[in-house]
Amino acid sequence: MNNVQNKMIFIENSRKEYALSWIEERWKKGKDFLGTSTGILCGAMTWVSHHELVQGVCCAGGFGILAGGSMTPDQLSEQLRYLDNARCRPFGVNLIVFHPKFQELVDVCGQHKVTHIFLGGGLPSSSVFKSLASYNILPVAFAPSVALAQRLIRSGAQALVIEGHEAGGHVGPVSTQVLAQEILPVLGKEVPIFVAGGIGNGRGIMSYLFMGASGCQLGSRFVCTHESKAHDAFKEAFIRAHARDAVLSYGIDARLPVIPVRALSNKATEKFVDFQKDVLKEIEEGIVTLDEGKMKVEHFWSGALYRAVVKGDVEYGSVMAGQSVGMVKARESCKEVIQTLTNEMIEAFNETCI
Ligand SMILES: Cc1cc2nc3c(=O)[nH]c(=O)nc-3n(C[C@H](O)[C@H](O)[C@H](O)COP(=O)(O)O)c2cc1C
Repeated sequence: MNNVQNKMIFIENSRKEYALSWIEERWKKGKDFLGTSTGILCGAMTWVSHHELVQGVCCAGGFGILAGGSMTPDQLSEQLRYLDNARCRPFGVNLIVFHPKFQELVDVCGQHKVTHIFLGGGLPSSSVFKSLASYNILPVAFAPSVALAQRLIRSGAQALVIEGHEAGGHVGPVSTQVLAQEILPVLGKEVPIFVAGGIGNGRGIMSYLFMGASGCQLGSRFVCTHESKAHDAFKEAFIRAHARDAVLSYGIDARLPVIPVRALSNKATEKFVDFQKDVLKEIEEGIVTLDEGKMKVEHFWSGALYRAVVKGDVEYGSVMAGQSVGMVKARESCKEVIQTLTNEMIEAFNETCI
């Protein structure tokens, strides 16, 4: 190797170190809060985020979150035992505040010395925060606006996730970009804020670090990892899909409320619209009451995520996916995903900041 080549390698390494030190500085607050070596979180995904994926993400330097929202206390305890035995730490657990056994689930987390709980499914009451504090568990809440974010911090949230319309699963109406612009400048210095929804590349993560995020939460990008429990057919559907295939299932009439869900377009998403039309007709003709109609619509998707993720029914199940699905190109390990994201972050920094 001659002197010129040596110099080029030296310059390349210096640029990389400079980029890494900038990134370290930007997500330090997030890393310190999570106890990880990166500010990359893998969001909880029901049926997908079991102990294997959580462990895979944690071992790769990210922060894994167990999807405890639809688990019974016994199922949660079993998952946590695996993580205890693997000495996998730190990691988080996602719980839904309206779960009928919410307090029992918190107690299980307390017994297993879980450090972080991500509170989904609505606004947590102050008693929820008190209960978590009694176990020294750090509460993280989902904030859909500046006003609610401020209220959540006042109530006891120690960190926030802001998740936009592009995300996979249940979504709010506002895009990730807009939430980030509204919330990060106001509250980004108060508590760690993690941005989620539509992020599939390190360049996306960098853009939010520039804006004041303490890290980013990705879901879809981790679905096809070797460690993910998703059925082969579910993973194949992800690899085939483009961003535009991740569509919203929405209500067609205000009388039948529907929480919008982003999933890959399939027979079920098509059928859902006609199904609602049929139910409305039945209501108008007096065949069913409005309440019965609401129940019918609510039940349409029941068990649909399980059918898709666990049984591989990607036509009639719910293939929840974010618009970031278009950036999922192959099956990889969690380590490869996090390494790729980090390399993309460094490239983005070197292209724009040096
Ligand atoms: C298959 C699937 C299941 C999900 N399940 C949950 C869940 O149980 N609880 C939750 O808070 N978020 C859930 N999410 C949202 C993710 O945690 C994450 O925030 C979201 O996927 C981010 O958007 P992205 O997919 O574009 O990265 C789910 C997402 C997917 C794709």
